[in-house]
Order: sequence, then structure tokens, then C-alpha cells
Amino acid sequence: MFTSVELRQKYLDFFASKGHAVVPSASLIPENDPTILFTTAGMHPLVPYLLGEKHPAGDKLTSCQKCIRTQDIDEVGDNRHETFFEMLGNWSLGAYFKKEAIEWAWEFLTDKKWLGLNPKKLAVSVFVGDADARFDEEVYSIWIGLDMPEERIAKLPKTNNWWIAGATGPCGPDTEMFYWVGESEFPLSGSNPGNDEVNWLEIWNNVFMQYNKKPDGSYEPLKQKNVDTGMGLERTLVALNGYADVFQTDTFWPLIQKIEEISGHEYAGSAEIRRSMRIIADHLRATTMIVGDDRGVGPSNVEQGYVVRRLIRRAIRHGRTLGIKNNFCSRIAEETIKVFVRIYPELEKNKNFVLEEINKEESKFRSTLENGIKEIDRIINKKLKMMDTATAVRWPPSDPIARSRFTINVVTPREAFDLYQSYGFPLELINEELARHALLIDAEEFKREFGKEYKKHQEVSRMGSEQKFKGGLAGTGEIETKYHTATHLLLSALNNVLGQGVLQKGSNITAERLRFDFNYAEKLTTEQLKQVEDLVNKKIKEDIKVEMLEMPRDEALKTVKVSFDPNKYPDIVKVYKIGDFSVELCGGPHVEHTGVLGQFKITKEEASSAGVRRIKAVLR
Ligand code: ALA
Repeated sequence: MFTSVELRQKYLDFFASKGHAVVPSASLIPENDPTILFTTAGMHPLVPYLLGEKHPAGDKLTSCQKCIRTQDIDEVGDNRHETFFEMLGNWSLGAYFKKEAIEWAWEFLTDKKWLGLNPKKLAVSVFVGDADARFDEEVYSIWIGLDMPEERIAKLPKTNNWWIAGATGPCGPDTEMFYWVGESEFPLSGSNPGNDEVNWLEIWNNVFMQYNKKPDGSYEPLKQKNVDTGMGLERTLVALNGYADVFQTDTFWPLIQKIEEISGHEYAGSAEIRRSMRIIADHLRATTMIVGDDRGVGPSNVEQGYVVRRLIRRAIRHGRTLGIKNNFCSRIAEETIKVFVRIYPELEKNKNFVLEEINKEESKFRSTLENGIKEIDRIINKKLKMMDTATAVRWPPSDPIARSRFTINVVTPREAFDLYQSYGFPLELINEELARHALLIDAEEFKREFGKEYKKHQEVSRMGSEQKFKGGLAGTGEIETKYHTATHLLLSALNNVLGQGVLQKGSNITAERLRFDFNYAEKLTTEQLKQVEDLVNKKIKEDIKVEMLEMPRDEALKTVKVSFDPNKYPDIVKVYKIGDFSVELCGGPHVEHTGVLGQFKITKEEASSAGVRRIKAVLR
């Protein structure tokens, strides 16, 4: 059996023996690239060097890099996809190219001194060529020279055999290496990664970065020809140890065992149980690594924090599927830390932060969930009762079409939207609750209807007035959320500069700007506008925590001034406080700290109607 510790070491030793300098893993959160949230490949921290800058450690490098990929999140739960993973890589910065890269890869994979994988169980793919670049004949002949049978060399297009980190930048054709994981001991004749994606597991990708893709879509040849490779740690362990999935490797198995212990289910139980366990293990492992990174962040509504929040919440939901009733996420985080602390010592230092952040988020989400689930069950039961009485047929009818037609009315998109507004209850959870009652719904249609409701709501709230209490002025997108909080700061700043008599008369937010209407008799002077703007920016700089409290309306109204008819607010209201600068009744969502808002700038002040002024402002 190969352990993860051995594989990491062997990889780095092998490339060191070929003259590569071993470089440490960079942070999961990129230091110099605000355009991406996470390091998704070993090459990320090396982009400047791939474009020609000199690397202090030389022109041949190797590393084991922590990575996060969220684009495949829906695939997690199968036997091979992961959100956090470690990429073993070797790089040539203009030193060697295709021949050496492939020959070394082959030696490392098949030589008994290194991994000793059976060459008969390996297959590869090469770039077939298109209008931008030609068939990679050179790579093809190198594989033939290594005795790779023609039938196991798949020739594939850019979607498979071309690699680029983002929309632009260094890129080129690649050759991927696959291991046979089918039931038969050896690959079936004629089978290759081009015609059978299930039985071939990709373990390694060698990219030949010979182009720079420019913003206009053209490919400019790079002066320096680079090699960028990435081998998946767990996937290679699957190949080496004959496991059925990546979750049986020593970097995942202790987490699965802990989930078995907490839930009382067995991993071997059923495909469904297995899927939930995999998602829990994967998501909480990724969460631990993100929060525990030296540049780590806890859950929030923005950027990396938002990803963390979604990962934790999804793990909790799968925990519920397994019947887990109490907080358990930090226990999985603890196991993750045990697994990785020797390799990534920052986890020890950041351990308390990780456990606390995860625990806090879990408690918060659990209480939201419970309230929301009670409400949705109340709605469903009421409707089912009506249905039984009306039709004298017990639910569910056996005809699936009748069932799906009915279901869309059981919880209307409007009700779903209210649940979402009041409890932050995500649409997928509503679907799950419906499914529990055998109310299978057409998720796509529901989503569309939900979307329409969302839009309608935005338009209604454009008129300001009573809809305000229902919350979200606009979407929950990150930018809108920021504008939403900026709107609160703006109202308070207006109160400070123009007087407490200023009330909100309307508000509208798009991803580009906020628009705010308020009562005031005259045009604002340049001086007043500057004071308002400066005050908002001062409060942003102070990075004040935004707090939310839920309380009965009447209690809230004792202390909070409102702009609208107090009777129009629901019985239980949310109160958002920004330090002691701003307090408003509002449905949210808001950012967690004002510091993320950036720079606030008023772009326009004009009359909206008699006695009402309108300000437009942007965040930069
Ligand atoms: N950068 C290449 C990949 O991530 C090696 O597949």
C-alpha cells in the first residue's frame, strides 16, 4: 500500500533527482491575483515565471500545491471529483520540453523504483489539432516510442486536451495520462479515454505552454516554451492501491470513518448514503483547508467567504439526510487537521479559528433551517389536506404527470420566494423537502418560476414603500449585497448631514449602482454631497461589523425609526445594525463588515418628485 506521505515524497524526490528545485505550496488564496478566488492549479503561483520572469529557484521546479476547484462541485459525490485537492507538479521554465517531460512522467509512473504501475493499464490522450494549433504529432510519436499501443492513444480536441488557467494567459496543448479502473483486470480491447470516460481515471496532465492567449482571442507564440504538469494525489493513490474511489485514500478515509461513527450509517450501505458521506467529507475538508490557510477566511456573504458558507451549509444538509441532528462539522474539521497538519503546519496555528468559525456557522444555519422547515411542512401539510378533501384520493397519485402538475402548486414560487426571503431557505432545500413528501417537481420549471418571482419583487421594490420590509432590494448577488449595505450607510450619513427628518422614499439597486430617494426640500450643495460621501467612506474604512437581530416588530419599533407605515412590517422583523452608526428594519442580505464595500462615490443628485431628492452612487 502506498500512503499519501510516501507518494508526495517520492514525487518530489524523483523530480529533485532530475534537477528540479522543490518549492513550497503557495496559499490557497492567491496573493497577487484579485481576479480569482482560489489557487486552482500548481501553475497559478507561477504565472509571471511562465510568462518569462526569472524564478529565484531556477528554471526547473517541482511542488505539491494545495488547490480548490469549485466548478466541478456538482460532480462531487462520484468516485473521483474533489473540491480541495493536492496537485503534484513539475515545471520547466524554458528548460526542457515535450520529450523529457513525457519520458520522465513515464519513468516515474512505471519504473519499479518509483511507482511501478503496470504499463498495460495506462492510456493517454493527445491534442488532435484545429484552426488555432496543429495536431500534436511530436507528442504522439513520443508515446509510440514508449510502446504505447495506438489504440490507447486518444486524439481529442481543445475541450479535452488544451489547458489554460482562465480566459487569457499562458496555455497550450496537453497530454493526459489515465489508469484503467474498470472491472476487468486489463483494459478492454479498443477502449481508450476518448471512448470510455468511466473506466479510465485521469491521473496526470502534462501541458506544453507554448502560447499566450490574448484578450482578443488570438494565440501568440511564447518565446519561452514551458512545461506545466499536474498529478492528482488521491487519484494516483487510487491507481496504486486499487481503491474504488478517492475517499478510501488515507487523506479521506478517517473523515469517512468519523461520519460513519456520528451518523451510525455505513459507507458501504447504499449509493445514496455513500454520496452524502462523500459530499460531507469533501466539503468540510475543503472548508478546513480554506479557513485554516495562512490567508484563510471564515464564512461570509462575499467572495471566498461565500464559498465557505455554501460548502458548510451543503455539508450540513447532507448530514441531515444521514439523520445527523447535532453540530458535527467541527469534528470533521478536527479529523482533517489531523490528516494534514504534518504537511501544512499552519493548520495547527489556525485550529481554534477554524473550529470556532465552522461551529458558529453551523449553529446559525441549523436554527434558520429548523424554522424554515417547520414553515414549509406547514404549507405542504395544509395543501395536502385540501387535496385529500377535494379529490378524495390519497397523495401521491401514481401518475407522474398528474403529480408534477399538482406539485408546482403545493408550494407556489411566491411561497418559495418568501421562505427564501425570511429564512434564507435555498431553493434546493425546498425541493428536497418536497421530495420527502414524494412531491417530485420539475426543478427546472420551478426554478424559472422562482426566477420570475424574484424579478417581479425587484420591480416592486423599485417603488420603495411597503416592500422594503420584505428584504432584498435587489438580488443576493455579492455586488448587490454590498450596495444594499451602502444604502444603509447613505441614509445615516444623510441624517447626520441634513437632519433626522430625512426618510427613505425609495430605493433601487442594480449590480452597477444604488439609487436612493429621500425627502428634502432643496437641491443638495456640493459641500453637503461631499460631507455625505466622506462620512460613508469613513464608516467603510472603519470596517464596522454589520449585525442582525430578529425581534418582535413592536419591540423593534420602540427604538428604530422607520420610513414606512409601521403596520406594514411583519410580526417578527430583522434589525440590521452597523455599529452605532446605523440601525434599520430590513430583510437583508448585508455584508458582514463595511470594509468590503471599497470606495463610495455619489455620481448624481437630482429631483425625483416634489420634495423628494434622488441620489445615485457607485462602489469602486
Ligand atoms: N495546469 C494543469 C492542470 O491543472 C497541469 O491540469
